[in-house]
This record gives sequence, C-alpha cells and structure tokens, in this order.
Amino acid sequence: MSHNIYDDNEIVNSSTNLHMDDLLAIRLSRRQTLKGGIGLTATALLGGLSLTACGGDSSSGLKLGFAAVAKNKLDVVTVPEGYQVSILHALGDPMMYGDESWKDNGSETAESYNRRIGDGHDGMYYFGMADAGTYQAERSDRGLLCVNHEYVVQPYGLHANGLTAGATRVAAEVDKEIYAHGVSVVEVKRNIGFDMSMVRGSKFNRRITSATEMAFTGPAKGSAQLKTKFSTDGTKTRGTNNNCANGYTPWGTYLTCEENWLNVVSRAAADNANRTAKEVVALNRYGLPENRKSPYLWDTAGADDLYSRWSSTATGANATEDYRNTANTFGWVVEIDPFNATSIPAKRTALARINHEGAWPAPAVVGQPIVIYQGDDARNEYIYKFVSKALWDAKDVAGGMAAGAKYLDEGTMYVAKFNADGTGQWIELAYGKNSLDSKNATYAFEDQADVLINIRLAGDIVGATKMDRPEWGAVNPLNGEAYMTLTNNSNRVSVAATPTGSQLKPDAANPRYYEDTYTNSDGSTKVNKGNPFGHIIRWKEDAANQAAVKFSWDIYLFGAEATDKPDVNLSGLTAVNDFASPDGLYFDPRGMLWIQTDDSAYTDVTNCMMLAAVPGKVGDGGTATAAGGTSTLKGANATPETVRRFLVGPKDCEITGIAVTPDGKTMFFNVQHPGENGSLAKPTSAWPETQTSASSIKRPRSATVVVSRKDGDNLGA
Ligand code: FEO
Ligand code: CA
Ligand code: CA
Repeated sequence: MSHNIYDDNEIVNSSTNLHMDDLLAIRLSRRQTLKGGIGLTATALLGGLSLTACGGDSSSGLKLGFAAVAKNKLDVVTVPEGYQVSILHALGDPMMYGDESWKDNGSETAESYNRRIGDGHDGMYYFGMADAGTYQAERSDRGLLCVNHEYVVQPYGLHANGLTAGATRVAAEVDKEIYAHGVSVVEVKRNIGFDMSMVRGSKFNRRITSATEMAFTGPAKGSAQLKTKFSTDGTKTRGTNNNCANGYTPWGTYLTCEENWLNVVSRAAADNANRTAKEVVALNRYGLPENRKSPYLWDTAGADDLYSRWSSTATGANATEDYRNTANTFGWVVEIDPFNATSIPAKRTALARINHEGAWPAPAVVGQPIVIYQGDDARNEYIYKFVSKALWDAKDVAGGMAAGAKYLDEGTMYVAKFNADGTGQWIELAYGKNSLDSKNATYAFEDQADVLINIRLAGDIVGATKMDRPEWGAVNPLNGEAYMTLTNNSNRVSVAATPTGSQLKPDAANPRYYEDTYTNSDGSTKVNKGNPFGHIIRWKEDAANQAAVKFSWDIYLFGAEATDKPDVNLSGLTAVNDFASPDGLYFDPRGMLWIQTDDSAYTDVTNCMMLAAVPGKVGDGGTATAAGGTSTLKGANATPETVRRFLVGPKDCEITGIAVTPDGKTMFFNVQHPGENGSLAKPTSAWPETQTSASSIKRPRSATVVVSRKDGDNLGA
C-alpha cells in the first residue's frame, strides 16, 4: 500500500459557488495600508504568558542567526552548525515500564500499544508543568508533550511481515492499527543543557487511541445523526483517529483534530436505498458515496462490533441498531486534558465537522471571546473561524475540561470569503441565518446540530472561497495576524479552460496556474500542474478585534524553486529558502515563524524541510500577476534575512508538528513516514537509526526529534 492512498487528496467539493474569477472585473488596487497593530496590550495572554504590544511591529527585533542548511537527500536530519538533535520517541517505544523495548520485527502486541508510542507522528504541543503536576505555561524544563499519531504509515514497520494483502484484513493487524492511531501524552524533562527526554513510567503518560471512549459535547450532543448501537442517545463514541494537526487552549488543554477519517470508514453497496435523500446528499458531500471501501478496510476484519463499526452502513431497523452514523462521529476537534490522565476526552461539536487539519487559537485577551481558526484539508475546501460565547477570564488558566466546556461548547462558526480586492468576510454559519434553514433547496437544515455536522454544505450555500487545500494555521503572537498554508492543488486549470468536475480556475487568493516538467532520478519525467508548490495566505482582522467579521489579506509566501520564472517564484526565493508544499506552520512564543513541508513536487532535489522566518505584516508587499495571468496581493519578497532553511529531514519523510519551550531554547518537531516509498523487502530509509549509525538496516519509524543549541543560546536567532 503506497502512501498515496492515505494522502490528503480527497476531492469532494463540486458545489458551484461564485468564484473570485467571476469577480476579476474588479480592478485590483493596492489596498490601504492599515496602520498599527491590533492592540494586544498587557492583558494579552498566550497560554498564560503575558505579551507586550508592539504597536504594529510584527517582528520585535527578532533576527535569524544561523547558517542556512543546504537542500539534500541524505537519510538524516540535517541541522545548522552548532545545533544538536536527539530522538525523544519513535513508533513502538514503551512509555511505561513492563513492556519490552522496540524489537524491530513487529512482534509487539496490539494491546501493548495502549502503552507504546503510536505511528505517524504529526501535530503536537508542549505544556509546561509545575512541581505540583499542574499547568504552568511559562515553565521550560519540565512539561507534558502531546503528540498526534495520524495514521499507520508503514505497514511494513508495524507488522511482523508487513501488511497482509487481500480483500479482507487480518483482525490482529487491524487491532494493532486501531491502537497505533490517536494521541500520546508523555512527561518530558531537561537533562544536561537544553536537550530533553521522555520520563518513562510517569503517571502522566497516556495513550488515547481509535478505541478510547469519549463524549460528545456542545450543540450536536444527542443529535439523531450521532446515535449508534454503541451510544443510543448520541452522547458518546469510541476513538479519535487520523489526528493530523492540533491546537491548544489558554486553560492548558490539548486539541487534536480528525482529518482523513475516510481512510478507515467504508460504506456498503446499495446503502442509498436505506437512507433519506438528505443523508445521501450529506454522505456524498463528505466523500462517502455508497459502495466506498476505505483504504484500511478495518470493517472487513470480522463480524465483531469492533470491526463492523467502521462501516457507515444502515443494516438495522434504525440508527441505534447499527453504525450508519459512524461517519458523523469523526471529523471533530477533540479536547484532552493532559494533566488529568483519567479525564474523558470531549468531541467539541460547536467547532463543527470537517476534515479538520487543526484548530489554532488567537492569543486570548481578557474580556474578549476565544477565537480559533480552522482549515478543512481537501481540495476546494474552506477556512473557518470559531468565536466563543464566553469571554476570556484569566482565572480559568489551568481550568481543564470544565474551562473547555465553558469556552468551546457555545459559540459561532464562520467561513471565509476572500474578495479579489484584498478584503474578506467571515460569513456566519448559524441555523436560521444566510438561508441555512429548513427551506434551503440544497440541504434542508433542521437545526444548529445539523449545520455543525454538515457544515461543508453550509459553506457551499453561503459562497465561501474554495482554497488550495488548507493545512496548518498559526497566529502571530505579536500582532494577531493569522497565517494558513495552502499546500498545493493540481486541479487548478488555466483561466482560458472550461473547468469540469472539481476543477477550478485560479482566483486572487489561489492565483497560480502553470505546468512544470522535470526529470526523475530514474530518467522518467513528471509534470506538476496547477499550483504544485502551494502558498501561505495571511489575514488581519478589522477593528483591532480578533472576532471581527471583516479582514484584509495577502499572500505571505509562494512556494517555488529558486530557478523558476518570476511569475512562479513570486516571493523571490533563492537557494537558502526555496521550498514546495508548505504544510506545518507555527509561531513560537517569541514570534518566530516556522514553516514545514510535506512535498512531492520538489523531492527530485531535496527531502522535506523546515524553514525559520521573521515575517512582516499584511500589506507589506504589493500587487502581482501570477503565472497564468491572475492578479493577486502578495507580501514583501523573501530575503535570506527573513526566511532561511533551518533543517532538512531524512528520506521520503514529511516534517510536521512543532513545539518550542517558552524560553526559546528547546524545540520538538516530528518526522513522519520516513522511507514511505520503500517496503519491508526494499527499504528506502533506516531513520531514525541512521541519525547515529549511517549503515543501519533497521526499519524506518516516525519519531519526535529534540533540537537545541550546543551553546545553549536561543533557537534560530
Ligand atoms: Fe494530515 Fe492535511 O495533513
Ligand atoms: Ca498536514
Ligand atoms: Ca500531511
């Protein structure tokens, strides 16, 4: 099974919203430069850390101070001179005593993955911890690290002899995969200098898997659409999976986000006949037509409820007798309290159901709502914003799941519309507003639960902007501007074309269309089409208010090869900072921006990478015409002083997930799926062992890496 079938490329949005290319008669003019920051004054809090307003200075004197790492295809993590790396944990490592170390032969039991590190390391967050075992945001030498385990990347790594092929799966292999998904929470502490290691056996160490029981909370709790044989009143479910990126809250909890759950959810042939017309519309819109087999085929491993629950098929008299609603139980933001190992995770339904890449909070401000940005990662999907009803009270720091209920169970969802003139709107997605009601011809919404469960349909109806696959977001702690990566879209077509199916013409916010042919190492050629290198969009909310319904935007950076033509390499990238397919994105507590790649367009030249950046602000560039002829707004060109390659990962990997301690001295990042293009018989990577033993022949494994400076100074500076 190749990586491709698990990848993030589901195309399901074929709705016919008005696109920005329809609005191109509007002449682009350089938009008014907005003066000043958004006024995050001394009351601003980021995870409990006080931040000082910078009057619009978004960089706070930060300077990049390392020698750029060259692009390369080595089977190691390459970091700048003066930096050191260690491996915190990798697939299968035991978190507690009593389980044997990874044997490198796939002999670990499924049950032991309740206490072992899962596979496919992805989003993560570091929470400082006080001596008393409570949340202490500013602490850097001891904390809890939450890591998502997105998917079983390499069946050849997890199973003894690789994945057993066939139309039906072997139950023991499925069991192991169910437990290798989810989240790990481990205690970490500093050793010598600023390196950190996992505290094996810590009472805080915990695995949450695709079998862990969790609650539904918020408006959709108890909805008929969430009822299953397991929970006949629709208030709970089992498992979180395909946990991609993440979020965190100022009260010290972790948010894990369910992205490509279609990997594990099937639907039987002829199921439409047993469904209402509305159900069929909703299932199709979320990529689950009848007779759709999931890549993992978990539902085929046996008649037991543990396996049959992975098929969203009507087999009983009603929803309480089967798992027809399984698909509706995934796609949520799940809140976990890492400081309470017995707490029950909550699927916070007020944040809606999509292919959740992540959930990124703006810095919390006392007396203002909690604001969380979200992206739906599939081609042509949308960017969303959640605004809480409750206003932030700093007394709720360390408030755990009770604070989560207060801020995340009631609020308003919005979807983004990017106008061609550099302005934008957040359109409210509330039942009874903007035609989201029972009279709607596309989908007759019943109530707010129905809107939240099927919010993609709501986005279609209100004319949201279809994006080039929203991946990670991040909010600049110094000025509140939000950034989001749009990783790529091979389905953009030229302005002269007549789009068919899910094809789209470029628009101002997704402006590039071109073709790029290159020669692979084996002599074959490959054509990259559309927007193969991706870009990073950013926006500034109006009126010094993160909850505003209007914003201004520009494109911060365009991925490109340094040698590309100027209308492709629109940000002026050079050898020290050229990259493709931005994915992970993170502002560290100092305001330094970190950009990670998950790329297949530039991998003839280099493995995936991470760049460090000191960004400017919305409006610091000007207008531009992208390859293909579409006008757009772009940020100031990148220079070696503002964007620089910090590291390159091992072979066939993706670099994803990042956390930096509050003192800026220790970084954690993840290497996902090293060696994904190989197999057990013909491995292409032996990382992480190759980090210390170049001739290693061990199985490649996803892992968390710790980075620090040998001289103990600040990272990146
Ligand atoms: Fe799991 Fe969209 O990356
Ligand atoms: Ca991603
Ligand atoms: Ca990815």
